[in-house]
Amino acid sequence: MKLADDEVKRATLAAMASSKKFQGPRGTRDFYPADMAVRRYIESVWRTTSINHGFDEVEGPTFEHLELYTHKSGPGIVSELFSFKRAGGETEYALRPEFTPTLARMVAARAAELPKPIKWFAIPGHYRAERPQRGRLREFFQWNVDVVGGDRTPDADKEVIATAVSALEKLGLGPAEVKVRIGDREVVTSLLSSVGCADEFHTEALSLLDKKDKIPQDQFQHAAQTLHLDYPLLIEHANAVQRMASQCLGTRTDPAPAMHFRQNEVHLPMEWIDSLARALTDSNVHDWCVFDFSIARGLAYYTGTVFEVIADGERAVAGGGRYDKLIESFGGPSMPACGFGMGDVVLGLLLHDKGLLPDEVYLAPLRPHVFVISNGAEQPEAELPRLIAQLRKAGCHVRHTYRATRNVGKLLGEADKLRSRTAIILGDELMEGRVVLKDLEGGEQREVALDDLERALREVLDAQENAGV
Ligand code: HAM
Repeated sequence: MKLADDEVKRATLAAMASSKKFQGPRGTRDFYPADMAVRRYIESVWRTTSINHGFDEVEGPTFEHLELYTHKSGPGIVSELFSFKRAGGETEYALRPEFTPTLARMVAARAAELPKPIKWFAIPGHYRAERPQRGRLREFFQWNVDVVGGDRTPDADKEVIATAVSALEKLGLGPAEVKVRIGDREVVTSLLSSVGCADEFHTEALSLLDKKDKIPQDQFQHAAQTLHLDYPLLIEHANAVQRMASQCLGTRTDPAPAMHFRQNEVHLPMEWIDSLARALTDSNVHDWCVFDFSIARGLAYYTGTVFEVIADGERAVAGGGRYDKLIESFGGPSMPACGFGMGDVVLGLLLHDKGLLPDEVYLAPLRPHVFVISNGAEQPEAELPRLIAQLRKAGCHVRHTYRATRNVGKLLGEADKLRSRTAIILGDELMEGRVVLKDLEGGEQREVALDDLERALREVLDAQENAGV
């Protein structure tokens, strides 16, 4: 026996000597219970908003064939991939940096049988090997909302924008602090032509415009010159279009304000912009929206409307747009599509900074229905596990103490800390088959017969729900 003990001791000491502290990889997060509660709260607002707006939830794999991303997402995202091969294998995979290629692959595979328009949402984890900084991580969660198929009208663009706004509103944000900046790829490319930037430079020019605020000014100017892009003139033209488009937001009268832009004979899709502005106005989200035709968006697959949800003038909460050619490029039929992705990192920071994450908000779904206490006497102690099991079987969220104390006052304090809705106290009344049921919201307490306990508890919980607490 002595020998075995010594061996155990030696093994433990050896393990301790070789022990090592580990940190999570850079740009990732550990979700302790309070962090997880916040994440679930944000996700629950995303999920209920999507369902209320008629979207169905989907999910895809965490990793895909590398080619799915090199095919159409563009160099920005491809340079940030976590790619790998299976041990001993040759096929190249990548952790998903975004959901849109997976969605396009899924739609293309069953395009004929899916009812149109396809309205899907997803809340996947994403991985991007970018330099971690405030608001940008290497692992994050992103709410995706997309409409695919149906008629190609600005109604779909309006529908996804209104869904984003609705969630932001539910989270306590307003149009004074968050704006949906709406641009249009077709307008920007036409404006590029209007300032003399040749067609073959358009893709590079769009990617440069997207990077404008992320690179030093002299580097931007040098690259703009190489592409024959007169940036000040481009902005002058963009502002002219913007002024016209802005008049349509909030306008319900017919005819719409005149939308003419003549510069080097370029064609602009002003009718589309006018209809989009009116649809946003009819949905009453126009206060949240501004047109901004300097928005380019980094992803290569966007074809028309593009938008960014920006908080406090600079923080990118969400981004999206129209990608009418993507499904076809994944082997599906030609189908219009648009949607957005909203990340959890910037949004979480924003809600926190604005005091919109008080713990009573995100902990509300986790509040125990009941905290069960015994006064420590023999019969209550014996009854305790039976009662807990019975209440849990009835669907209640039940907690109890793990502490040795039998001081009922202290245990009620523990129930309070957990924000339990009620407490059941097993004491001397148990001899007559009764327990004390205490409403921890209102403070009233009364004795209840054990065989009537479930009904009485439900009554208190229902009354609390009706009172909105
Ligand atoms: P995205 O602009 O690359 O678009 O990302 C959308 C949002 O995801 C950003 O506005 C930001 O909130 C969040 N996000 C992106 N990268 C990071 C990061 N490294 N750390 C934290 N948050 C991040 C897309 O992903 C498109 N696929 C969206 C879409 C859906 N377009 C159409 N449908």
